[in-house]
Amino acid sequence: MNPIVTSIIILLIITCLISVWVAVTERKKREKLIESLRKKRKKEKKSNINQNEIKLLSRALSLIKEGIVIMDPYGRIIFTNRFARELLGISPKDEGKYFYQAIKNFDVVTMINENFNESYRAWQEKKIGDKYVQVIFGSDMDEKVLLLIDLTTIKKYETLKKDFIANVSHELKTPLAAMKLSLETLEEECKDRETAKKFINKAMERVKYMEQLIEDLITLSKLENVGIQVNLKEIHFKAFIQKLISDLSEIAQSKNVKIETDIPENAKVKTDEKMLHAIMKNLIDNAIKYNKEGGNVRVTFKELKNEIEISVCDTGIGIPKSHIPFIFERFYRVERSRSRKLGGTGLGLSIVKLATEKLNGKIEVESEEGKGTCFKIYLPK
Ligand SMILES: Nc1ncnc2c1ncn2[C@@H]1O[C@H](COP(=O)(O)OP(=O)(O)O)[C@@H](O)[C@H]1O
Ligand SMILES: [Mg+2]
Repeated sequence: MNPIVTSIIILLIITCLISVWVAVTERKKREKLIESLRKKRKKEKKSNINQNEIKLLSRALSLIKEGIVIMDPYGRIIFTNRFARELLGISPKDEGKYFYQAIKNFDVVTMINENFNESYRAWQEKKIGDKYVQVIFGSDMDEKVLLLIDLTTIKKYETLKKDFIANVSHELKTPLAAMKLSLETLEEECKDRETAKKFINKAMERVKYMEQLIEDLITLSKLENVGIQVNLKEIHFKAFIQKLISDLSEIAQSKNVKIETDIPENAKVKTDEKMLHAIMKNLIDNAIKYNKEGGNVRVTFKELKNEIEISVCDTGIGIPKSHIPFIFERFYRVERSRSRKLGGTGLGLSIVKLATEKLNGKIEVESEEGKGTCFKIYLPK
């Protein structure tokens, strides 16, 4: 073949190949462009939805009765809802400012400052303006969150309930004391009349029960008061228990129950005397009352590494296992009739538990039916 013709054919083939290659790459480019445009549009659509969702969410958050303040990791305000703004005096223009510039409550600013870099959540109850508020500050994530829960209504009802119980108890105390006095006089007058004596004794028993009930209700309502003062004082434990035992000796003798102690001479405990008295009186009283004729009660004191262990053990009737989870509930008795006969109100162990908690202690119980019961109290040193 002629070399010129051959070269022309080769040139033609090369040109053909080049145009095919150009066409293919152009198509690919176009497809890529279309794909990226599609993706972009999809993204835009999604961010539109997010914007809408955020708007909806912040509208919903502005309606709730809890306050929310969200800050960035540096403490600049990102989001506040209406309740938080009203409570803390934050203006909508404060967005982007540091929390200490935006929040107009010194107590809350101090709380955030103190806990800003901590990994736990801080909880505090504060009076802000005329509201009682539970303030929670969470810094255990990138964004810092301040939550404000309005407790004003709950507090109002709690106070009303406590005042009501305290008032009713005090109101009942006076007429009851008068009734008791009349019965005592009558008892003296009717010494020689058997039937009259029997009825008077019965009435007297009921009066004493009501007296105890009122005492227990007053103690409980005092312990329930959030503002109750714990007056720490060093107590010589042995002398304290001996006085208590002598106060309870009459009922111990009536049941022929012996009370022993295992308390070191120099045993001391720094605590609130009234609360410790309520705890020990109720525990020893129960250990005597729910004992067997001729039984034993043992009070011991041990100093552990970080706490003090006080135990009251008896050789009494014991508590069935199924009842143990409930014995600290108000008015709960294993045997209602037995407790009533013994003048029990069903409030003793509730008082013991509440007082122990107020002293930052804990209580444990072990019991075996027919063999006896052991209550152990652990108090911080
Ligand atoms: N040491 C104990 N031994 C056996 N049962 C006990 C003892 N202490 C408490 N209980 C049971 O727990 C119940 C609740 O005790 P408490 O709150 O002191 O009320 P109560 O006024 O009846 O004594 C008692 O009624 C009794 O059934
Ligand atoms: Mg009791």
